[in-house]
Amino acid sequence: MKRRSPLDAARDAALEAGALLIERIGLPMELEEKHARADLVTAADRESERLIVKRLSAEFPSAAFLGEEQGARRGTSGERWIVDPLDGTTNFAHGYPLFCISIAFERGGELIAGVVHAPLMNEFFAAERGSGATLNGNPLKVSPVKAVGDAMVCTGFYPADFERNARHFAAASHRAQAVRRDGAAALDLAYVACGRFDAFWEFGLHAWDVAAGTLLVGEAGGRVTQVDGSTARLDARSILASNGLVHAEMVSLFSSI
Ligand code: IPD
Ligand code: CA
Ligand code: CA
Repeated sequence: MKRRSPLDAARDAALEAGALLIERIGLPMELEEKHARADLVTAADRESERLIVKRLSAEFPSAAFLGEEQGARRGTSGERWIVDPLDGTTNFAHGYPLFCISIAFERGGELIAGVVHAPLMNEFFAAERGSGATLNGNPLKVSPVKAVGDAMVCTGFYPADFERNARHFAAASHRAQAVRRDGAAALDLAYVACGRFDAFWEFGLHAWDVAAGTLLVGEAGGRVTQVDGSTARLDARSILASNGLVHAEMVSLFSSI
């Protein structure tokens, strides 16, 4: 099969997976807990990943894969797909529309392309290294908000780490104009990229939650680090993304608690 650009291939795979998830949303679904309480998976997560892996490996047979449900598969080309086939499974299971598919493409360890597709919201975020980020084809950028006091920020919680999350949530609630917890990390990052949120932080996330969103935020003019301000890494389990302007204030707020 002739190979297209990673962005085009990711776009088609995500759109197809989105249609599959929409077909499943009203149907009775079996929820399974994975490693931890409230770490949920449904048949739809697995079907979505199978479809994405099938489509992308037909075009990129030598690329490696890291998918939330199937785990890692080695490649030989120095390229890797990083896939969350359904981010926001709990939202999906409750019919809350904020869930998405996240697909990123890496070459030589560098993020090259990323898409985040929220099928029920009809929103498709895409980014390519050096070419900017788009929402439904229109260029997007981060917000111009300069102070956390004027900011709407978002977070997510890892249930087993309640004490730390509670401290960070309280600190942000005291300082920010508003704090949200929407339940789909890849979409939270996309919302930073398009300026709806001015910052997002979370502990405990995995590469598949943050890869595409990290590229989106960077290409939209924002900044991504760990919560303590140190260099971002996909496997860091700590992320702070912002419009860049409130970043230092967020780091210093969290370092004071
Ligand atoms: C979860 C969501 C949620 C975040 C969790 C993630 P999943 O992903 O992104 O917002 O708080 O930590 O695990 O399990 O729905 O793909
Ligand atoms: Ca996820
Ligand atoms: Ca998932």
